Order: sequence, then structure tokens, then C-alpha cells
Amino acid sequence: MSDVDRAAIEKDEQNLLEPYAAQALIALDAVLDLKSLEACRVELLGKSGLITRLLKDVGALASAERPVRAALRNRLKAQIAAALEQRRGQLEEAALSVRFNAERIDITAPPRPEASGSIHPISRTMEELVAIFGAMGFALKEGPDIEDDWYSFGALNIPAHHPARAMMDTFYLNASFGNRPAVLRPHTSTVQIRTMLEWALERAKGCEPAPIRIIVPGRTFRADHDATHSPMFHQTEGLVIGRDITLAHLKGCLIDFLRAYFNLPELPVRFRASYFPFTEPSMEVDIGWNRKSGEIGKGSDWLEVLGSGMVHPNVLANCGIDPRQYQGFAFGVGVERITMLKHGIADLRLFFENDVRWLRHYGFSPLAPATLYEGI
Ligand code: DAH
Repeated sequence: MSDVDRAAIEKDEQNLLEPYAAQALIALDAVLDLKSLEACRVELLGKSGLITRLLKDVGALASAERPVRAALRNRLKAQIAAALEQRRGQLEEAALSVRFNAERIDITAPPRPEASGSIHPISRTMEELVAIFGAMGFALKEGPDIEDDWYSFGALNIPAHHPARAMMDTFYLNASFGNRPAVLRPHTSTVQIRTMLEWALERAKGCEPAPIRIIVPGRTFRADHDATHSPMFHQTEGLVIGRDITLAHLKGCLIDFLRAYFNLPELPVRFRASYFPFTEPSMEVDIGWNRKSGEIGKGSDWLEVLGSGMVHPNVLANCGIDPRQYQGFAFGVGVERITMLKHGIADLRLFFENDVRWLRHYGFSPLAPATLYEGI
């Protein structure tokens, strides 16, 4: 075919297609939603659509004309398909912005009232202890509620038949770890042992671990129940072990702690000689108060708040720590007791009755965690 003939066919084909192209573009422009767009697509490019038909018709043409006309019809098809996609994009975007406008959130609307819980005073006190001792560089440590009697007594220098075992009214479980009876731990002092054993193990590997400085809040259990005792209660244990830890550190730490906890910078604190099997010397710690009014920090009476002492050499040795090289102090606080004192709660049983009215009154906001900076 000569170039002249080809040009003539092209011209003829263009004249034929032009109205279809114009019609298709006008139809697409007029479409206003995605559903009509799909209908339009079927009309143009569907199985029996306009463009599909034009392409099918190519087969009936003179074979010399077919390639030229088919190429132009295919080009038209591609143009229409592209225009369709472009229109689809525009319509989708428009639909999205209509949705965004309809779904706009009014951030000035008042919140719907929502029942919110509160932090239990016992949890709050333990959080406060962790915050205060955390600021002194203590790490948080926890241990299991179910222990064996070696962690609970033996390792703590309380031999079998020692009266301290009876004193603690321990719950023995119908189970054992090897030949050691399982108990519900009667105090958090068990975690002293676990921590020192781990520390000695680290040390045995050849490098000196950082000194021990831990605070251990947790549940404890004793067969006891009255206005000031509950079979389940809470303690917080502290332990510091190093090469040069002395009684002066013990006193400084505990005075600072009590003053921070009760928020009384001048709170009188007294250390009174006492006895615990796992410390030597042992001291009961008292704070000044007025017995009549119950006011803390005023008056000339003393109130016992916690037990403490220098860790007994036998306890260190039981954990594989050489008492000639290391020493340190420990203390144990009754969490219910210091919570009752701080908030004027008279009966310990109220803590565990779960009366919602009581919890609402004595509970703490979950949104205001205990930090030293806001005043404990
Ligand atoms: N474990 C003791 C008890 O439950 C409290 C206690 C006293 C813990 C003196 C200590 C301590 O770490 O040094 O009665």
C-alpha cells in the first residue's frame, strides 16, 4: 500500500472515530458517581460496548485496511480506558471527602460520663515505696507467693523448731519442692535469699556484680484474722549488700524514706534495739506521734512502723556470700500498717472488702502516678 493510500485510510478512520471519542469523553464527564461510572464503562468497553464493537468490526474490513484501522481503534480504546480511570480517581476522592466531612469529630463536645476505677490504697502505697526507694537507686524485685520452707525460714537463719516459725502462723501447702515443704510465704524476706543467691552465682562467674540494692513489694500470708491482721497482707522488703555498707546507711535510708512517705521533713524517727533471727544487730523503727489525737509527727509518743537490721553473717553465708567481705542491711515494712497510719484508716479488713463506695473514697486516680516530684 502506498503512503498516499495509507494516509487516506487514516484520515477516513479518524473522521469515523472522532464523534465516538467526543461522545465518550462527554459521557464520562457527565458521570457523577462511581455506580454510573461503572455503567458507562460497560457501555464503552464492556463485552458488547461501543469500542468493543468497533474493534470486532475490523474483522469484516478489507485485509489491506485492517492494520491501520485496528491500530487507531486500539489507541482510542486505550485513551478511553485512561480517561475512565482518571474519572474514577476523581470520583473516589470526592466520595472520601464527603465521608470525611460527614464523619468529622467534634472535639469540643463534652465527654460522655464513663465509670473509671481507682488505684487501691495498698497498691498506691507500694507504688510510693518504689518511687521513693527508686529515687535512691533501688531496683524493683519480685518473688513467688508460693515458696519452700528453706527460703522462708532456713536460709534466713530460722532453724526448725525455732519459735519464730510458730510466730509467723505459716500456711503449709499440701505439696513440696523436693523434700522441702511448700508454704505461702509469710514474709517478703524470701526474696532477699533469692536475690543474694543470684548475685553470688553471678560473682562466681568471675566478675564483681554491682552491689545489691532492691525493693520488694508483694503479698504475704499468715493464719491470722482480726481488725489489724488479715490472712493475706502486704509487705515491702528492702536489701542493700556491698563491701562497705554500714548501719549509718541503714539509718539514713530509712529516715529519708519515712520523711518522704509521710511528707513530713521533720518527722522524728527512733531506732530501737530488737531481735530478728536474720539480722544482727536488729532494730525496730519508730516514728513520733500523738497517741491521743493520732497525729503523726507531733507529740511525745512513739509508734513502731518497721523492722530492720544488718544482715546476719549466717544469712550471707547461706547464700554463698562471704560475710568477711560483704555486709549490708535489710528492712521489712507492713504495707497495710503504714497505709492505715497515713490515711487514717482504722480497720484493716476494709482494705479487702471491696466495697465500691470505700474504694471510691480511698482510691487514687490511675492518671496521677506516684512520683517524688508531685509530693508522695
Ligand atoms: N520479715 C520480718 C517480718 O515479717 C520483717 C523484717 C524485719 C524484715 C527485719 C527485714 C528485717 O528485712 O531486717 O516480721
